Amino acid sequence: MSEAVPTRLEDFARAVGNSSQAEGLALLRRWLSEDLSGVESLLFEPQTDRAQTVAQPLLAAGGKRIRPLCLLVASRLGQQRSREDALQMAAVVEYIHNATLLHDDVVDLADERRGQPTARVTFGNTVSVFAGDWLLVRALRLIHSVGHPWALPAALDCIDQLIEAEILQAELSQNLTECSASYLKVIDGKTASLFRLALCYGGHIAGLDEEQRDQLTRFATNLGLAFQVQDDLLDLVGDPRQTGKPLLSDLAEGKLTLPVLWLLREQPTYRPLIQSLAHRPVEAMDPEKTQALLEALEASGALESARSMIQDRLEEAHERIDALPDTLARSALGLMTRLLVERVS
Ligand code: IPE
Ligand code: IPE
Ligand code: MG
Ligand code: MG
Repeated sequence: MSEAVPTRLEDFARAVGNSSQAEGLALLRRWLSEDLSGVESLLFEPQTDRAQTVAQPLLAAGGKRIRPLCLLVASRLGQQRSREDALQMAAVVEYIHNATLLHDDVVDLADERRGQPTARVTFGNTVSVFAGDWLLVRALRLIHSVGHPWALPAALDCIDQLIEAEILQAELSQNLTECSASYLKVIDGKTASLFRLALCYGGHIAGLDEEQRDQLTRFATNLGLAFQVQDDLLDLVGDPRQTGKPLLSDLAEGKLTLPVLWLLREQPTYRPLIQSLAHRPVEAMDPEKTQALLEALEASGALESARSMIQDRLEEAHERIDALPDTLARSALGLMTRLLVERVS
């Protein structure tokens, strides 16, 4: 693939069919490199608060910056665009995302994130929770200073959805509840909600009309659901060196994800095995049992069924953006969709 910055629709269109995740993301990042550096500068603006010391290592450990990327692409879908607004709102969604990660790692008692020790390992659970709150406040301050009337209600809705989903997930995991409808509700609230916010902001900045923004929101929902199902698959069969997170954490946390729910429904005889692995630290799981589970997930078609759900969401997402103007940015969204659901990290 050429190293040039893409300037034509065909550059992205070709990449949609051909590129690997790394190549495709590199192409998008090259296209948006100046904007992405602008977002990084905002994220690292020095503050005097103690909380910044705690949040900083997580922000600095990288992360894919997918939500800012989505927003920046969407902000180029229309005729108008304030670059400054796009950068600031992209920082908002990354702040909210990192806030949820700080909280999530306390709730999940996670030790590793982005290939580094989690903030709770370095600074403790209490401080991590407050640093997460601080990032949410940073996001709200930025929204306030940008001053668009559409920005605050959308962020508050998103945060409400995140909280509701996290509480529902906690209730389900306490009782190891087997319910696919609830699983979908959880992943919509905890993950798709933030993709919706990113694309809603991008659509507003691009000056899209209400109907177009509605299509973009539906695109975001499908992308977000696929993104989380892929995350759940990577928790079972991913490479921790690429994901930066240990395997089998979901089961350890009592989370029954789509492939496991599928196996339980199709082959209930696996229930005792799954129950014996759940709610115990990964190191304490019997390797023969985890091996048996992974083999059953593969042989039963459970992994395949999750992959096919991802494919369905991807197709639906594509249909949604078909309704948007045929621009370079729309091709970039198409590419992003494919890359995110085939992702390995
Ligand atoms: C992790 O999100 C949390 C999920 C919603 C699955 P990402 O996979 O985008 O995490 P980073 O930002 O790249 O670390
Ligand atoms: C992701 O849930 C949603 C968040 C709000 C952080 P997970 O618990 O699957 O995320 P990871 O796998 O820890 O990144
Ligand atoms: Mg987690
Ligand atoms: Mg996960």
